[in-house]
Amino acid sequence: MFRLITGIPGPSGFGSASTAEQVTEGIDASNLTAIVTGGASGIGLETARVLALRKAHVVIAARNVEAANEAKQNIRKENETARIDVLKLDLCSIKSIKAFADDFNALHLPLNILINNAGVMFCPYQLSQDGIEMQFATNHLGHFYLTNLLLDKMKHTAKSTGIEGRIVNLSSVAHVHTYSEGIRFDDINDKDSYSDKKAYGQSKLANVLHANELSRRLQEEGVNITVNSVHPGLIMTNLMRHSALLMRVVQVFTYILWKNVPQGAATTCYVALHPKLKGVTGKYFLDCNEFVPSKFARDEDLAKRLWDFSNKLVNAAQIA
Ligand SMILES: NC(=O)c1ccc[n+]([C@@H]2O[C@H](COP(=O)([O-])OP(=O)(O)OC[C@H]3O[C@@H](n4cnc5c(N)ncnc54)[C@H](OP(=O)(O)O)[C@@H]3O)[C@@H](O)[C@H]2O)c1
Repeated sequence: MFRLITGIPGPSGFGSASTAEQVTEGIDASNLTAIVTGGASGIGLETARVLALRKAHVVIAARNVEAANEAKQNIRKENETARIDVLKLDLCSIKSIKAFADDFNALHLPLNILINNAGVMFCPYQLSQDGIEMQFATNHLGHFYLTNLLLDKMKHTAKSTGIEGRIVNLSSVAHVHTYSEGIRFDDINDKDSYSDKKAYGQSKLANVLHANELSRRLQEEGVNITVNSVHPGLIMTNLMRHSALLMRVVQVFTYILWKNVPQGAATTCYVALHPKLKGVTGKYFLDCNEFVPSKFARDEDLAKRLWDFSNKLVNAAQIA
C-alpha cells in the first residue's frame, strides 16, 4: 500500500507511478506480433499504442470495429510506421471468437504475444449469446476459448523462432471479492443469487486460475510460452459504465490510489515485453512487481476444475 501511494519502485525497478512507455523504454519488439483484446479503448488502447511504439505488429481485437479503426488512425497520427491491424471479436459469442481466430490465421502472421485484456464490470444480470452469465462469459470463458484457438499458432511461432511467447491475462485485485465457493460451478447462471460485484470478482479470479493452469500445462509440455496475470491498478475508464456514479464517489475518497491510463497499461506492457521476465510464468503482477494473489487464486485443484468446466461450457456452446 505504501508503495502504491508513494509510487516508490519495487524490486523490478518500477512501481505504481511507472508508465507503459517507461517500463518498455529501449525494448525493440520489431520481431514480435501481438494481439490485444479490447484494444480500442482504455488500458488496451494504451497497451496497443505502446507495443506499436516499440515496433511490434499489433492486432487490435475489438467488438466495435469502427472505434478500433479510429484508435488505429490515432496511433498512426503520432507513429506513422505503426503496424496495426483491426479484427472483429465479440468475446461473448463462441461463434465470433472462432471467426476471429480464422480471420487471424488468414493473415498468416506469427503470434508471440496474446493480451487477454477486454472486459466488462458490474453488469446487471445478463446472459451471453451462448447463454452464460455475461461477466464470466466475456472476461473468462471468451478468453479461455480464444487462447485455446490461438495456442497452436503461438507454439509454432515460439518453436520456429526460438522467441519466448507470452500470454497476459488482465485480472484485478477484485478477484479477492468473489462468491463463497470461489467459482460457482453448480450455479454459474443463477439469477436469484446473482451479485454484480461478486460475479466480476469471480470472473477476475478465473483469469488468474486460467493463467496458472495454462502455465502449468505448458511447462509440463516444455513449451516456450509464459502465462501470467496482472492487476493494472485503479483507472477511470469506460469499464466503470455500469457504476459510473459509485466509482466517481469512491474516487473522491480514494483519489490517492488511482492511476492514469499510461500508468494503468504499465504492468501489462512490462509483463508482455520486459526481458527481466524471461521464463517467469504462472505469476500474478501488480504495479510491475510480482504479488501473491488470494488463496482461491493459488488453489491448483480449483484451477484444474475451472479448466474442465470451461471446456465443457465451450463444447456445449459449440453444439448448441
Ligand atoms: N480500469 C480499472 O480500474 C481496472 C482495474 C482492474 C482490472 N481492470 C481490467 O482491465 C481490463 C481493461 O479494462 P479498461 O479499464 O481498459 O476498460 P475499458 O476501457 O472499458 O476497456 C475494455 C475493453 O473491452 C472491450 N469489450 C467488452 N466486452 C467485450 C466483448 N464482448 N468482446 C470484445 N471486447 C469487449 C470493450 O469494448 P467496448 O468499448 O465495445 O465495450 C473495451 O474496448 C479489463 O479486463 C478490466 O477488468 C481494469
